[in-house]
Amino acid sequence: MTNKLNDEGLDLLFRQARTANGWAAGGEVSDAQLRAMYDILKYGPTSANCSPARILFLRTAAGKERLRPHLSEGNLAKTMAAPVVALIAYDVEFYEHLPKLFPHDLTAKTWFNWSAAHAETTAFRNGTLQGAYLIMAARAIGLDVGAMSGFDNAGVDKEFFPDGKVKSNFLCNIGRGDHSLLFPRHPKFSFDEVCKIL
Ligand SMILES: Cc1cc2nc3c(=O)[nH]c(=O)nc-3n(C[C@H](O)[C@H](O)[C@H](O)COP(=O)(O)O)c2cc1C
Repeated sequence: MTNKLNDEGLDLLFRQARTANGWAAGGEVSDAQLRAMYDILKYGPTSANCSPARILFLRTAAGKERLRPHLSEGNLAKTMAAPVVALIAYDVEFYEHLPKLFPHDLTAKTWFNWSAAHAETTAFRNGTLQGAYLIMAARAIGLDVGAMSGFDNAGVDKEFFPDGKVKSNFLCNIGRGDHSLLFPRHPKFSFDEVCKIL
């Protein structure tokens, strides 16, 4: 086993990977693929292993219809056509699970439960990271993803997470992308434009 990814792997995950904007026919996503994706992304690091992401996969027409009224106009058609829509959310009471997730220090819960704002910031930060891990894990198993924040979070939360303990962050359409529908690749900053080495 080598200790770094080869060019093919880097292309698959980053350099050739694109944000899907429409879907190829026959690109169904199986439960086994969703489970395989999760079983990779769960290893991405989070603070104190807190793992606050909660993911709701919408595959059925009925499930996606519940999402429809909350989507922005520009995201509507491609989302309704996507084989699966992952609703990436986060548990604001994630710290309740720390005795299981971080058993080597049973005080860890108290690092987060002293302030709802601190807990929410931590949940959002780490839940967002886990959403990014999901994108990369999907690509790693040969799927395409289109992430989206263009939707009404409050409406989605009311519809899918009415108890208020879980909050939506962003959506990921998942399937096999139709490359003819891609936007041209946008420019990316060079190292020197946004990085400094002190
Ligand atoms: C968190 C997040 C939210 C996004 N929201 C939307 C969105 O609402 N609608 C959309 O069409 N694309 C959305 N995008 C896609 C970005 O516009 C796209 O990733 C970016 O332009 C880079 O494109 P590329 O991945 O093909 O290089 C989102 C991407 C991310 C990561």
